[in-house]
Amino acid sequence: MIKIAVLVSGSGSNLQALIDANLSGQIVGVISNKPEAYALARAQKAGIQTAVIEHKQYPNREAFDDVMHQKLLDWDVDLVVLAGFMRILSEKFVKAWEGKMVNIHPSLLPNYKGMHTHQRVLNTGDTLHGCTVHYVTAELDAGQALAQGVLKVSHQDTTHTLAQRVHILEHLIYPQVVEWICTGMIQHTAAGVMYRGELMQEPVQFCKF
Ligand code: GRF
Repeated sequence: MIKIAVLVSGSGSNLQALIDANLSGQIVGVISNKPEAYALARAQKAGIQTAVIEHKQYPNREAFDDVMHQKLLDWDVDLVVLAGFMRILSEKFVKAWEGKMVNIHPSLLPNYKGMHTHQRVLNTGDTLHGCTVHYVTAELDAGQALAQGVLKVSHQDTTHTLAQRVHILEHLIYPQVVEWICTGMIQHTAAGVMYRGELMQEPVQFCKF
């Protein structure tokens, strides 16, 4: 059984969706860089061990990442799932977990990498928006996209409604993609990402208009 660690910084609604999905893999631990993250309470309620590793207590990014890396090794983790983890990871850490670490980002990548995606979508007047699950590489929000949840932006949408609507899609697609990895339906190989035994050309799309 695949052993999963989830890295969080905040409310952890995606963590909750992963817990509720009863995955084929086992969530063996949750790491937060913030002691006040509500995600920690969700993990504890589900009987999952937690670790708080505060980035502020380390002299630099590499030192912080080294401690996280060691914790993941201690837990014998196969797959790292970033779920609202608000720290940029060092190249060394990302390399160590390449092909074994996924993230969810609230935009249709490659559009709107980085922060404030909902506001930027509204400013541009885009008609479609959503979220993307992708492998993590050293370049921010640039690893291969595995799945996207797509929604139509309405004239009434605000950053608040968009955030809510995108969250609903996140909770649908993230557990699904993690389950595909757990069951081997998605595989990271030297030749590329395989989906159902074939090279994945583009992300699986889920739509919710
Ligand atoms: C989500 O919007 C996700 O796309 C982004 O961080 C947020 C985490 O939300 N990476 P939550 O903590 O899972 O509720």
